[in-house]
Amino acid sequence: MDINRIKVLGGKGKEGTKEAVESFELNMGDIVSIVGPTGCGKTTLINDIELFANQNTPSGRQVFINGETVPEDFSFDPAKHPIAMISQHTNFLSDLPVGEFLSIHAKVRGAENIERMIEETLDFANQLTGEAIVKETAMTELSGGQTRSLLIADAVVIGNSPIILLDEIENAGINRTKALELLKGYKKIFVFVTHDPCIALLSDFRIIMKNGAMQRVICTGVEERIAATEMKKMDDIMLEFRTLIRSGQEITENILNDKMKILTQPL
Ligand SMILES: Nc1ncnc2c1ncn2[C@@H]1O[C@H](COP(=O)(O)OP(=O)(O)O)[C@@H](O)[C@H]1O
Ligand SMILES: [Mg+2]
Repeated sequence: MDINRIKVLGGKGKEGTKEAVESFELNMGDIVSIVGPTGCGKTTLINDIELFANQNTPSGRQVFINGETVPEDFSFDPAKHPIAMISQHTNFLSDLPVGEFLSIHAKVRGAENIERMIEETLDFANQLTGEAIVKETAMTELSGGQTRSLLIADAVVIGNSPIILLDEIENAGINRTKALELLKGYKKIFVFVTHDPCIALLSDFRIIMKNGAMQRVICTGVEERIAATEMKKMDDIMLEFRTLIRSGQEITENILNDKMKILTQPL
């Protein structure tokens, strides 16, 4: 099935009242965030998308693919499932070396140039994580950040799922702003559940959740895009400090002043 657009029709929140947001649409290339306090229903909303909810989940939401609902008994060829979900708790069960795992996945997906795809996937993953992944490492030996980075890279490069749902990946120690930059190069729909202001403001729009219900949709305007650029600088500074500290360096006043200079550079 070729997916061009998805529409989510609002249902009801935890208290059974109708959602303030009647519906929202996702088009190919969109990057969207879902924000709100813990327990407000963010994961539930992306689960509804993953399940192609048709008034058969607690929220009563309905998901339309290219204008139509998906029958409950519809089963996708696993190699062609249109949705990839990456959650905080996703882990690899396989202890195959990374290279072999990627190669099997690429074959299942019918890829032509398998070696090139593996290289591209590793290159993508290694731009997201501070600790480089090598082909020979067993999947089960990867750190949390490496696992999440590889999962994202694998879903984007090898998996051809047009819709990728990411549940609070920022806690896994990956470079989020770099991830968004790279993702923008792929024409897919990305939905981030996030507490991260940078991810939220680098998205095309964000959905605000409360009490299990969608409260508001905010499109990222010009002022917010400028704010996002400024925040990214702060993010980069924090990342640089993290790298320095992890590599055993001491932070001197000179280093501090030098790094903070980034903030006063013009946009
Ligand atoms: N619209 C809804 N209707 C009924 N229950 C809901 C709804 N949205 C969320 N819940 C319930 O509220 C709890 C918290 O939701 P969850 O999606 O895990 O929140 P979050 O991911 O924002 O922390 C879950 O038990 C979930 O089933
Ligand atoms: Mg959640």
